[in-house]
Amino acid sequence: MTRQAVAVAPAKLNLHLGVGERGPDGYHPLCTVFQAVDLWERVTVTLRDAPGVRINVAGVGAPRVPRDETNLAARAARALARRAGVDVAVDIEIDKTIPVAGGLAGGSADAAATLLACDALWETGLAPDDLREVAAALGADVPFALMGGTALGRGRGETLEPLPVATDVWWVLITSDRGLATPEMFAAWDRAHGRLARGSTGVPGEVDRAGGTAGLSHAGRAGEAGSNVTPRGPAARRQLHPASPAEVGLQRPAHLIEALTRGDLPEVGRLLVNDLQPCALAAAPELGARLSAALAAGALGAVVSGSGPTIAALSASHDAAVRIAATLRSEPLACAATVARAVPGGAHPLLDEA
Ligand code: C5P
Repeated sequence: MTRQAVAVAPAKLNLHLGVGERGPDGYHPLCTVFQAVDLWERVTVTLRDAPGVRINVAGVGAPRVPRDETNLAARAARALARRAGVDVAVDIEIDKTIPVAGGLAGGSADAAATLLACDALWETGLAPDDLREVAAALGADVPFALMGGTALGRGRGETLEPLPVATDVWWVLITSDRGLATPEMFAAWDRAHGRLARGSTGVPGEVDRAGGTAGLSHAGRAGEAGSNVTPRGPAARRQLHPASPAEVGLQRPAHLIEALTRGDLPEVGRLLVNDLQPCALAAAPELGARLSAALAAGALGAVVSGSGPTIAALSASHDAAVRIAATLRSEPLACAATVARAVPGGAHPLLDEA
């Protein structure tokens, strides 16, 4: 019997993140466009003799990752074992590339890779649908980490519809030393929802409905660096849909989906939206200057990913991404900027390394 299995899973960005009102389960319904990018978490699972789960973590942000039973990879192993009727006795080694608490779903990627590695080791024979169900119970972003590519996510993010993308997509990711806690960003959205619904904004960027803020894009055509920075996005939606703000948040982002299908990157850049962005900007005010700096450096659009604080800046090409990243890394900004490419797949086993 094989004693070790290795699997990898990618980071995700949210090109669109619409939030609805918190439901009785404590979760907010979402309408989101996920995209997997080539920052990979790598998980090695090894069978051992003693029962239980032992976690080891190396790589980016490793000291901030819990090694106990709260670790999402440990929970993934236990959940799969329960589902498959297996006794757990494994070491899980997580090699991190995705920043911790960065809005890039690093913990969810760890869980997805752990599910695949344990599934291979234990030869559970579970169907892909069973695995997806286990994934959905673990966290909102775990099913997408399994699936990857680009997809529309609904519900908590577990109802996924793959989306075609007609072009290579290059991003510059501006990461932060500090993390932002997802539950806190959703709680801030709840508070802001009441306040902003009565018309106040108080955060950088246009807040044109409850808690909703578009990503930033140039007012003019792509490449007009230095032109006015004009937030775009849900304003147009509001005119089209005179529904309540939270209902508008759950509307399918049809224009963005069409732009992705056409491979129209300037339009994609204009349509980046994240309803949690005002909350992230309030918690980490330095993000406002970074969003503007990404545009001034030539990005087609820039948006906070998920609950932040990572900023995703869309680039017209690989060369453009390299240039934008170099500008952002230089003084006075001195940002941590990484070039990343959208990938078609999701979590997968590394067969030759097992
Ligand atoms: O699913 P995940 O573990 O990433 O979510 C962490 C927390 O974020 C949840 O417990 C909940 O408080 C909040 N959340 C939410 N609505 C979502 C996703 C997460 O309120 N759709």
